[in-house]
Amino acid sequence: MRAPSPLAIAGAGGRPPSFVPAPASAKPLSRAESALVLARSAARSVARLCLRRPRTRDLVAQEYDLGNWARLASQRQWVEFDDFAAWVRGRDNRPIIALINGVLCRIPQSDYVQFKRLQTQAILGSYADPTGDLVEIGSGYGNNLFGLRATGAWGHLTGLELSPTGIRAGREIAAHFGCRDLEFGSIDLTDAAHAGFQRLRGRSVFSHYCMEQLNSHTPEVIANLLAARPKRVIHIEPGTELLRWTRPLEAVTRLYVLSRDYQRRLLEVLRRQEAERRLQIVDYRRAYFAPSAQNFPLIVVWQPAHDGGAEARE
Ligand SMILES: C[S@@+](CC[C@H](N)C(=O)[O-])C[C@H]1O[C@@H](n2cnc3c(N)ncnc32)[C@H](O)[C@@H]1O
Repeated sequence: MRAPSPLAIAGAGGRPPSFVPAPASAKPLSRAESALVLARSAARSVARLCLRRPRTRDLVAQEYDLGNWARLASQRQWVEFDDFAAWVRGRDNRPIIALINGVLCRIPQSDYVQFKRLQTQAILGSYADPTGDLVEIGSGYGNNLFGLRATGAWGHLTGLELSPTGIRAGREIAAHFGCRDLEFGSIDLTDAAHAGFQRLRGRSVFSHYCMEQLNSHTPEVIANLLAARPKRVIHIEPGTELLRWTRPLEAVTRLYVLSRDYQRRLLEVLRRQEAERRLQIVDYRRAYFAPSAQNFPLIVVWQPAHDGGAEARE
């Protein structure tokens, strides 16, 4: 397999995540096959763009609370597993086309799950406080948190989520496997007065494909997070701001993000807050992995300014 593209694009003083090598089972697609996969994705995105469906709160609830998380909660597949590690690994060995370190590959689904888990651990292990608690905002049913728990690298893990169905499923899974070091609670990131924000103070916080749902609310969500005084925030989120139309892989993700009305202004909003000295952007970079040909994430890391932006407000 050819060498991956470097992850970092703009060192801003962060500690780059260590590189997780591609699994041996990842078989790169030929150039022609890759081109076809990307062309198909672009065509689907263009069709979706013609429909212009804005990402409203109703749409988010339809896709998650009443959609993915409701299906997961009704299937209760975790009860078929006694072993936590086996549940985390998954048992679906069907091949998928995934982006692995910048290369489109065919790989068994469960091997991709393992690779993604190690990548997430490498990213969070690089930027979060290893001794403290870790909080995920918009955690769904805890897919990332269960994977992180399996690495044994974290103390206490907390998932905060809007969807009651996601929270309920997460709690049931945690209870089934006896995970006392993992808990779930409620938050609405758009509601400044929500009690869930109190659980962020002094903690390392991450989001994974949650800010993607909140493009039109980005300024208020960042302001709410800032007011909660977390230690550091690590976003693993798709976006368009660092993507170039001249690179097919990036152009396809850009089109996809646009067509889904996903996150497109995270860096712009953070840079504005940084200019007002309310926060410091620690690092930002592209991370070329995804369980499909499109929608790979950007990693954006920031922390509240030490003086809380007092000078800027004077
Ligand atoms: C794409 S899912 C990602 C879930 C999880 N982070 C993961 O990677 O498996 C997006 C999640 O964001 C949650 N979400 C959307 N709007 C939210 C809000 N205002 N406050 C908290 N969570 C929200 C959704 O309910 C959903 O569970």
